[in-house]
Amino acid sequence: MSSVPQHIAIIMDGNGRWAKEQGKPRSYGHLKGAENIRNIAIKASEMGVKVLTLYAFSTENWKRPAEEVSYLMNLPKIFFDKYLEELMANDIRVQMIGRKEGLPEETVSILDRAIEKTAGNQSMTLVFAVNYGGRSEIVDAVNRYVSEYGNTEHQLTEEEFGKYLYTADYPELELLIRTSLDYRISNFLLWQLSYAEMYFIDKYWPEFSPEDLEKIISDFTGRHRRFGGLE
Ligand code: IPE
Ligand code: IPE
Ligand code: MG
Repeated sequence: MSSVPQHIAIIMDGNGRWAKEQGKPRSYGHLKGAENIRNIAIKASEMGVKVLTLYAFSTENWKRPAEEVSYLMNLPKIFFDKYLEELMANDIRVQMIGRKEGLPEETVSILDRAIEKTAGNQSMTLVFAVNYGGRSEIVDAVNRYVSEYGNTEHQLTEEEFGKYLYTADYPELELLIRTSLDYRISNFLLWQLSYAEMYFIDKYWPEFSPEDLEKIISDFTGRHRRFGGLE
């Protein structure tokens, strides 16, 4: 039996399909999806989760039409204008992982402002993966390592390598949730997923509810995690 996962990651997928079902434009799905983050973050924090990492924009999402990309880049502003005070009231700290280079200045400054304002909060860390790619994270880590150690004889350990990743300060990832029933990782947290439990749920992100999260966490606590060993 396991306790409540310290670190949960979510691939928030299905905004577009959900909107289509409602006869609405994709942007409407993204808006409702962003609003849903508030409910899920507060629930996770109440349940004792320490870190919640949300896949908001991948390094591959630049392939989408310019109009959609630009809507997505403006979502942090809409989200924090609406919910920053509530995040403060719930003692939730905001952080970001991913490459800031390539993001519009305005998007970065909105994120930076939320990060700064919430820096002292302690109940849970809400991490937005923006312009995030699992492969680019590993490459960035290797480049940082090489720039520090050059070609010395130093032998790197797995634990030490983890310190070069964007997630260095967070507990081990224990649970991944993906909405909308696509069974893939889509370049998310490749290293960190090594031994995470996975849940794929038949709901689009805008309709994923705090009760769904509660059910998944309760199922997680009943799973036997062997890590290659025996019971
Ligand atoms: C997830 O929803 C949000 C982002 C990837 C930014 P999608 O936009 O991928 O929605 P679907 O998968 O097309 O339904
Ligand atoms: C993964 O969803 C990325 C985010 C949720 C931000 P996608 O919709 O981009 O993934 P694919 O294209 O189905 O793999
Ligand atoms: Mg998708």
